[in-house]
Amino acid sequence: MKPHVQASCAAALLAACSAGLAADPAPTESSDPVQRGRYLVRIAGCNDCHTPNYAPSLGQVDEKLWLTGDRLGWSGPWGTTYATNLRLRLAGLSEEQWLHLVRNMQPRPPMPWFNLRSMSEADLKAIYAYTRAMGAAGEPAPAFVPPGSAPTGPVVRFP
Ligand code: HEC
Repeated sequence: MKPHVQASCAAALLAACSAGLAADPAPTESSDPVQRGRYLVRIAGCNDCHTPNYAPSLGQVDEKLWLTGDRLGWSGPWGTTYATNLRLRLAGLSEEQWLHLVRNMQPRPPMPWFNLRSMSEADLKAIYAYTRAMGAAGEPAPAFVPPGSAPTGPVVRFP
């Protein structure tokens, strides 16, 4: 069983894989918001970009580091972006401010803000509850580098 799961993981999208390997049952709408948020952060792909080394390690990152942002840059015509440290970002926001941010933000690629905005209010509140329960941790991600300027660290390059 196990080797089969790992082999199919290598071929499949990493985000889908980390969901498939989750051992705990999917928390329902009515369960504890913190647990629901933990589940959403995992299956909605937030960790893939906002947690260091998450996708390359097939999700084997200590939960203490979840959502602490990443130093891997995403370079394209928009410049170079870095996935925000959400543990620090949300520590400074009330739940109302978080909902306002999601409804109004339009970050640069590759942040799939359109997916986040499609989430139900209950799910957004659950992500907030989980992230706040984990608490502030880590360093801020590197600052955005505008088009035409060279980023210093490692980057994923889009044509
Ligand atoms: C493909 C990579 C990727 C995925 C997946 C992703 N993000 Fe992001 N996210 C980014 C990047 C890069 C930025 C910074 C964009 C910028 O600088 O304009 C960002 C920015 C954000 C911001 C804006 C922060 C601010 O201060 O305005 C929020 C909030 C956020 N992400 C939440 C999430 C959540 C929640 C998920 C999961 C549902 C998620 N992201 C999934 C890459 C990603």
